[in-house]
Amino acid sequence: MKPVSLEKKILVTGGAGFIGSNFVLHALEHGHNTVVNLDDLTYAGNLMSLEPVRHDPRHIFIKGDIADRELVRTILREHQPWAVVNFAAESHVDRSITGPESFLTTNVLGTLHLLEEVRDYWRQLSQNGGKQFRFLHVSTDEVYGSLGLEDEPFHEKTPYDPRSPYSASKAASDHLVNAFRHTYGLPAVITNCSNNYGPRQFPEKLIPLMILNALEGKPLPIYGDGLNIRDWLYVNDHCAALHMLAERAEPGENYNLGGSCEKTNLEVAEAVCATLDDLCPQSPHRPHKSLLTFVKDRPGHDKRYAINTSKVNRAFGWKPLETFETGIEKTIKWYLENKSWIDSVKTGKYRDWISQQYGMK
Ligand code: NAD
Ligand code: DAU
Repeated sequence: MKPVSLEKKILVTGGAGFIGSNFVLHALEHGHNTVVNLDDLTYAGNLMSLEPVRHDPRHIFIKGDIADRELVRTILREHQPWAVVNFAAESHVDRSITGPESFLTTNVLGTLHLLEEVRDYWRQLSQNGGKQFRFLHVSTDEVYGSLGLEDEPFHEKTPYDPRSPYSASKAASDHLVNAFRHTYGLPAVITNCSNNYGPRQFPEKLIPLMILNALEGKPLPIYGDGLNIRDWLYVNDHCAALHMLAERAEPGENYNLGGSCEKTNLEVAEAVCATLDDLCPQSPHRPHKSLLTFVKDRPGHDKRYAINTSKVNRAFGWKPLETFETGIEKTIKWYLENKSWIDSVKTGKYRDWISQQYGMK
C-alpha cells in the first residue's frame, strides 16, 4: 500500500443528503481537502444539492452503497483518506414506522460493512498515517429516548433508550462503532446531534415541509397537540463542529452537539409562518398561520429532546453561531431562491409519500 497521501483526502458517505451535502460544501470552502463522496442516491440523495461543486476537481462523487464492501475497499485503497465521516443512513422517523427494514439494512448492516473495510484499511496504514486516521460516525440525540419537561438535557453518559425503529437502528450502529473501538482499537468518534435545519433538507421533515406547503397554500400538519419539543441546530453549525472534530477529536470519545434552542413544534411552525409573511408580502396565503392543521399524532412520538453541549464547548470552545431567528430566515430565503431544487425533489415518489402519510395531494 502507498504511504498516506499529503493531499489530505476525506471520505464522506451520504454526502448527497441534507447534512452530508452541506458538509461537503463546508469542507471544500473551509479546507484544502479533496472530498470523496460515496452516496447511493436513495430518494433522499440529490446531486442538485452539490451543484455548487459540480465542476470542482476537489469533489469526487461515487454512486454506491456503504454495504458494498468491495467498492468501499477499492475507494479506500485508491484514495487513502485521512478520515471517514459517515452520514449515510435512512433518517426519517415516520418512514421507519411504516417500513423499518431498510433502516436496519442501511443503518446497522451497512455501518457494519463499512466498519469492517475501514478497520482493515486503518490497520494497513503506515505508522504515521494510522495515528492521524479518524472514523467519525454521525449519530443522533434520539438514541437517548425521550425527556420529560423537567428532565436535565441529554449528556454523553445518558443511557441509551431508543424508542422508534429509526432511533433503535441508529443506537445499534453506535454500539457497533463502540464495539470496533474496544475490540479492534479503531480510532472512531461518535457525535450525537439534535434536530438540524437549513438549506437542502428533504421536505419530508418538519421545517421544509412547512415551508413548501405554506408556499402552495396547503395545510401545515401538526402532529398531536404540537407541544413536543426539539432542540434546533442550524446545519452549518453542525458541519463546522464535525469538520473540527474530524481533525481534532480524541479517538474513542463521544460528543453531544445541539443548538441549546428548545422549541415546541407549534412555535417552530409559527416562526416559519411569520417569516414567510414578512418575506412574501404579496402571498395570497397570508397569514400563513391560518394553514396550521392539527393531525393524528405520530405513534410513540418522543416528547422532548434537549442536548447538553458542555463537553464539546469545554474541549474546543464550539458553540453555534446562528440563532433560530437568523437561521430560519436564511433557510426560508434559500428555499425561495432555489425553485429548481424544489422541483427536483417533488417527484412522483415524494407525492406518493405525502399522500400516504397525510392523505394530501
Ligand atoms: P438524509 O436522509 O437527508 O441523507 C441521507 C443520505 O444517505 C442520502 O443522500 C442517501 O442517498 C444516502 N444513503 C442512504 N443509504 C445509503 C447507503 N446504503 N449507502 C450510501 N448512501 C446511502 O439524512 P440527513 O438528515 O442528512 O442525516 C445524515 C446523518 O445525520 C444520518 O446518519 C442521521 O441519522 C444523522 N442525523 C441527522 C439529524 C437531522 O436532524 N437531520 C440530526 C442528527 C443526526
Ligand atoms: O433529533 C435528531 C433527529 O431529528 C434526527 O436524528 C432525524 O434524522 C431527523 O429526522 C429528526 O427527527 P424528528 O422526528 O425530530 O424530525 P421531524 O422533522 O420528522 O419532526 C420534528 C418534529 O415535528 C417531531 O416532533 C414530529 C413533528 N412533526 C413532523 C412532521 C414531519 C409534525 O408535527 N408534523 C409533521 O408533518
